Amino acid sequence: MSFSIAVSGKGGTGKTTMSSLIIRWFVKSGITPVLAVDADPNSNLHMNLGLSYDRTIAGIRENIEEKDVPEGMTKVAYVGLKMEEALIESADIDLLVMGRPEGQGCYCAANHLLKEYLSKLSSRYKYTVMDNEAGMEHLSRRTTDEIDVLLIVAEPTMVSIRSAINVKATAEQIKLKIKKKYLVINKLDESRTESIDKLTGEIEKSGLTLIQKIPADDALIKASEEGKNLLSITDDSPSVKAVNSMMKEVIGK
Ligand SMILES: Nc1ncnc2c1ncn2[C@@H]1O[C@H](COP(=O)(O)OP(=O)(O)OP(=O)(O)O)[C@@H](O)[C@H]1O
Ligand SMILES: [Mg+2]
Repeated sequence: MSFSIAVSGKGGTGKTTMSSLIIRWFVKSGITPVLAVDADPNSNLHMNLGLSYDRTIAGIRENIEEKDVPEGMTKVAYVGLKMEEALIESADIDLLVMGRPEGQGCYCAANHLLKEYLSKLSSRYKYTVMDNEAGMEHLSRRTTDEIDVLLIVAEPTMVSIRSAINVKATAEQIKLKIKKKYLVINKLDESRTESIDKLTGEIEKSGLTLIQKIPADDALIKASEEGKNLLSITDDSPSVKAVNSMMKEVIGK
């Protein structure tokens, strides 16, 4: 069984950045290959990882037709074979891009096969990291497996913390199977300590454990401006240090 980490939160809080820095930690720690799943229809995780893709699960699924199933092969086996083509393999990271479901395709009959495939595929890896779109609802369509750790990313504002609380509530409402949920506060301006102090009460009320505060980091802004991948950011960058120091707790080691 793969240990799965899902990253969620409101738009723009830093989900993709967080997913990338987590993947970076696995790579630098030699815990590879790691499976990266880009579950945001607006797929951009690959850029942060210095990878490119030319196929997605959604795209491949759209093209699966019953008539194409070779004689003597079951539909399940055929779908599995086609899905395998969607996997982008590199030295340390294997990437699966879910892509944008077209029209009604999103709810088509192949969906449960897809879940089955994802479950089977991830079992080949020790760790899976899933970057998500804002919101939680789609997660139940993606996976039937239990998520080991859900990281909810928020910015250090009241509005953002409340959104994180909503994410937690939705996850509970739709009965997602999640072992542990943590809050990550991202883009913290260290010079304004009073801002985080004001949020402490709200965080306590949320029932979420704050696992890490990630500082606002110029290295990330620069990488983003220059379109550089985040694997190349140096170990002494404040955001990298912060992510690295939470990873042992994330994976329970
Ligand atoms: N700790 C940080 N310091 C500075 N900039 C950051 C930090 N974290 C993220 N950013 C920047 O914030 C922007 C949004 O980050 P990111 O794309 O990771 O958010 P997201 O939650 O995945 O967004 P979306 O909801 O659009 O998928 C990016 O330009 C990123 O470089
Ligand atoms: Mg994103």
